Amino acid sequence: MKNRTKTAIVTVTAAALLASAAQAAGKLEIFSWWAGDEGPALAALVKLYNAKYPSVTVDNATVTGGAGTNAKAVLKTRMLGGDPPDSFQAHAGQELTGTWVVAGRMEDLSSLYKSEGWASKFPKAVIDLISYKGGIYSVPVNVHRSNVMWYVPATLKKMGVTAPTSWSTFLTTCNKLKAKGMATPLVMGENWTQQMIWESVAVGVLGPKGWNDLWSGKLKFTDPRVVGVFTTYGKVLDCANKDAAGLSWQQATDRVLSGQAAFNIMGDWAAGYLTTTKKLKAGTDFAWSASPSTNGTFIMLADSFGLPKGAKDKTEVMNWLKLLGSKEGQDTFNPLKGSIAARTDSDLSKYSTYSQSAAKDWKSKVIVGSMVHGAAANEAFTSGFGSINDAFVSNRDAKAAAQAAQDLATKSKIGM
Ligand code: GAL
Repeated sequence: MKNRTKTAIVTVTAAALLASAAQAAGKLEIFSWWAGDEGPALAALVKLYNAKYPSVTVDNATVTGGAGTNAKAVLKTRMLGGDPPDSFQAHAGQELTGTWVVAGRMEDLSSLYKSEGWASKFPKAVIDLISYKGGIYSVPVNVHRSNVMWYVPATLKKMGVTAPTSWSTFLTTCNKLKAKGMATPLVMGENWTQQMIWESVAVGVLGPKGWNDLWSGKLKFTDPRVVGVFTTYGKVLDCANKDAAGLSWQQATDRVLSGQAAFNIMGDWAAGYLTTTKKLKAGTDFAWSASPSTNGTFIMLADSFGLPKGAKDKTEVMNWLKLLGSKEGQDTFNPLKGSIAARTDSDLSKYSTYSQSAAKDWKSKVIVGSMVHGAAANEAFTSGFGSINDAFVSNRDAKAAAQAAQDLATKSKIGM
């Protein structure tokens, strides 16, 4: 009898131990489009999470495809089907707010911001982007710049040109390069990368105020100035490769490295690719300038992660978000990613010379939001603009494109 009791106690204790082990051995699914060449920064962050929470199994779920064109479609299916990932990548700004926050699908993270003291650690402008009606809905892991033009100094030297600082000198430089036998001075990739060129042209032509007026509804797309944006964009497209639709942003960047093209306009994830994947040295192996006519402006976007309602592993997500928003987390992720920390206290000695210059520009330039990457415009507009771009690339009808963009803006309730 005595022995039986002993056995029973031992069994109960073992069961209790197993149960608590099962509890501690949690899991966490993170959903993003940072696969392949885009993966190292996220992998470093996951490694750090694993070191802090060794019993948690992290499912680093990715759907390949630059700018999240594919991932966002999968995310939508999962969210609407009641199967949200524990935490997913979404751009701070209209992409997150207009799609998921207004629909009541995200948890308010204000108490996390309070307990971590983040109100004073992130710039107010960034917090404003992720706030809605008094709540804060995600944690930004970075700040990327959209308006950067990349080149290889040796190529420009060989061709006898310098990096153009305005769109008009860009076109002159382009003609010079063509005359010297470079068929496509500008390389671009699939649709969204073309839209990034449009975005840079628009900010260059309209200035930051005109750009902001577009998204507040004050400036109509049918305004002659915006028609002019399309006209200039068309001329810039004449400098670019015709096989763009089939190229990823990395393949486009590769053409600058090989000397086939002189310039590429791409967000500074290109710096991550060039330094982390290609192991090149910023400033010598490759160089950059603001995209033409936008030197005074920093077109920003920020990748952020939140907690969707109905997420299965809430505790693990909260720990994930804490890490994402911490100085350690941001200074682990961003030096590999090509972005700068969203926090204001990062240790810049850990970053490439490119990122150090971006951090300086982030403080001194006029900041506007990227349309292509969800800061300035909602998803309805951004995804619809893809078709307008495709039509324009083939018919070059600036007036028709401007009208179509205005119709889309009205339909997407831009500025309302
Ligand atoms: C952006 C994203 C960047 C980078 C890029 C290319 O939308 O914010 O972090 O991943 O797409 O895929």
